[in-house]
Amino acid sequence: MENLTNTNAVAIVIFGAGGDLTWRKLVPALYSLFRDKWMPERFAIIGTDLKQMTDEEFRQRLRSGVDQFSRHGRADDESWQRFSSFLHYRVADFTDAACYTSLNSHLEELNQVWNAEAVRVYYLATPPQMIEVISMQLGTACLGRGCKGARIVVEKPFGRDLASAQALNKILADSFDESQIYRIDHYLGKETVQNILAFRFANVLFEPVWDRRYIDNVQITVAEQVGVEHRGAYYDRTGALRDMIQNHLIQILCMIAMEPPVSFDPDEVRSKQTDVLRAIRPVLPNHVHEIAARGQYGAGWIEGKHVPAYREEPGVDRESPIETYAAVKFFIDNWRWQDVPFYLRTGKRLPVRISEVSIQFRPVPHQSFPATAIRDFQANRLMIRIQPDEGILLRFQAKRPGLQIHLSPVDMHFFYKEAFRAKPPDAYETLLVDVMLGDGTLFKRADQIEAAWSIMTPILQAWEQSAPPDFPNYPAGTWIVEPAATLIARDGRNWLTPSISMAENGAALHGKPV
Ligand code: BG6
Repeated sequence: MENLTNTNAVAIVIFGAGGDLTWRKLVPALYSLFRDKWMPERFAIIGTDLKQMTDEEFRQRLRSGVDQFSRHGRADDESWQRFSSFLHYRVADFTDAACYTSLNSHLEELNQVWNAEAVRVYYLATPPQMIEVISMQLGTACLGRGCKGARIVVEKPFGRDLASAQALNKILADSFDESQIYRIDHYLGKETVQNILAFRFANVLFEPVWDRRYIDNVQITVAEQVGVEHRGAYYDRTGALRDMIQNHLIQILCMIAMEPPVSFDPDEVRSKQTDVLRAIRPVLPNHVHEIAARGQYGAGWIEGKHVPAYREEPGVDRESPIETYAAVKFFIDNWRWQDVPFYLRTGKRLPVRISEVSIQFRPVPHQSFPATAIRDFQANRLMIRIQPDEGILLRFQAKRPGLQIHLSPVDMHFFYKEAFRAKPPDAYETLLVDVMLGDGTLFKRADQIEAAWSIMTPILQAWEQSAPPDFPNYPAGTWIVEPAATLIARDGRNWLTPSISMAENGAALHGKPV
């Protein structure tokens, strides 16, 4: 990848810089990039928000976020002094046109000092309802389309259904070209998610078996141990389907299911992913209960600590019908995947934090071994661990040492930690570098967002129309969510609980069967 120090200057304008995202994610990521010499020599980070703050107060506030969340850990004084000299703050009312003209003057002055036409990144770290006004004002002030090097970055939630996402896309398109719009899904910035492409398309071994002839089903699990934390009010209007499946899990599915791209041109990759979305079998309203299941956590125990029910969380309605767990089954109607179910599930307050893709292969077509030899037989399985203990694990059969034939499944593994000693960059670091370089491969195009919402619409509508009578229906700290277990059991399968840690599986490689 091109190194940013060789590119021209960059000015990053963060709208909503007084908020949590800037403090927790954006500035710690920019600090790590700075430390690793990824930032160009001429750059500025201009935070802007309603709140009154001086540059110094802004810097002080951000330092605690950097200390806690940057990959480099606590900032030493010298590095912080150097980095924070690039941080500035502007008080602004985003609805006021004057704030955009004075922002432009500020950016023009920087251009003069730098003797360059800087790349301008407008990062919207604001509540979603501000996107419209900021984008429109940027357009009116001629800071969008036609402004060379200008890019706008938009965070999720990107709409709350198809109609609102279309409206948002239209608003952005009024002021920016599609190539200037970067819609973030931070899962696409995760190393392990990107590695799915490397694994599939830089190796010859797996692609020939990557289809309906060899694969029985695919399971994508994103389990969270945390509850809704301080975001109860947001979450209670959102739910797991919108918060996680519509974006993060669907994007992982696209990586697993897409056809090989001709090149890594951003539009080529995204078009291949969009083809997957377009091929997902539409859900008929009267079939929603067969392909989707939901749950909400009640009080329970996690790692020996009692945790409250979702309905007792701050900001949450005491009779909330919102799901904190969602499971869906999709089919992809194309030659490669016809009739292979893709099971997706995600939930809060599950026993552990784990994200994993399990590719379950079919059993061998004929068993030549005697019945006594295959009592422990398991068909091949490939597990792509997205987090934590990032890695890949391949399960296959081996003959147990002994005088008789007895087969046991064993695991072969690859751990990032072992193979590459360096700590992988945080997803935001990767994505911020890509925005500065103008590489949109890991960002979602308008058509991808809309296709993903189209898939979800029938489920969202069905769930909104009928409140679940049995919520809460799983206690915090369990894997078993009855409706999801039933969903997959109807197909004669079960959820592959990623209960064995990669570390334990590592031991398996060295002789201990699973
Ligand atoms: C966010 C969701 O997009 O992703 C959160 O809004 C969720 O509810 C988070 O907790 C999970 O991200 P990660 O990177 O911790 O798996």
